[in-house]
Amino acid sequence: MVIRLLRLISFLVTSPLAAVALDTGRPNACNLCHLDRSLDWTARHLNEWYRHPVPVLDEEQTTTSAAVLHLLKGDASQRAITAAAFAWQPAQQASGTQWIPPLLLIGMGDPYDAIRLISYRSLWTSPEWSRFTFDPVASHQDRFQAFGRVMGELERNMRGDPRSSVLLKTTTASMHFALRYYCSAGIIAKSICVK
Ligand code: HEC
Repeated sequence: MVIRLLRLISFLVTSPLAAVALDTGRPNACNLCHLDRSLDWTARHLNEWYRHPVPVLDEEQTTTSAAVLHLLKGDASQRAITAAAFAWQPAQQASGTQWIPPLLLIGMGDPYDAIRLISYRSLWTSPEWSRFTFDPVASHQDRFQAFGRVMGELERNMRGDPRSSVLLKTTTASMHFALRYYCSAGIIAKSICVK
């Protein structure tokens, strides 16, 4: 299942054109490395470098990372591809890693087993998290408890730079607000919507 989902990457990632990403919903090649950047950022660079026309984008597409939007609101293949991209060394180099764990945590609460597994494996690639164990196919309750442990860990240790493009506005506290927003909007799995 995971292999099949990962193979989708070569099939789905076709063009760096921001307009293609917009029309097809396919992850854009630039935004699969620049995980913290919006589609607007990519479109502007492509316009500057290759004179590609800048498509009309809404506010979210202008201000928020395309990868984050795919992970939070995309369909299953978009979520799988994005969760896998977080493990990719060139993407980590281009985007930094500090801000990533809360996002992967969202992937670990995904309704799909395979996406939970991919997200967990991506989290594992950062040295601070390599000892953390999580069973993506454990019972709902066990996963819920594991999620609580990570949240505690994040609150104690994570001090990311403020980055509004990835919904990390000041500290992890605002990530909670973001989570709560996505929970109340019913966008992400109820299993991770901790009270
Ligand atoms: C395989 C991964 C990868 C892909 C694909 C990629 N980049 Fe990058 N890009 C990087 C890395 C790594 C850096 C260097 C980042 C650093 O070390 O600060 C970088 C740097 C940049 C920079 C200068 C630094 C910055 O963040 O302003 C720009 C602009 C940029 N890339 C735009 C693009 C655009 C536009 C595309 C698509 C046409 C693209 N990149 C595709 C990996 C990638």
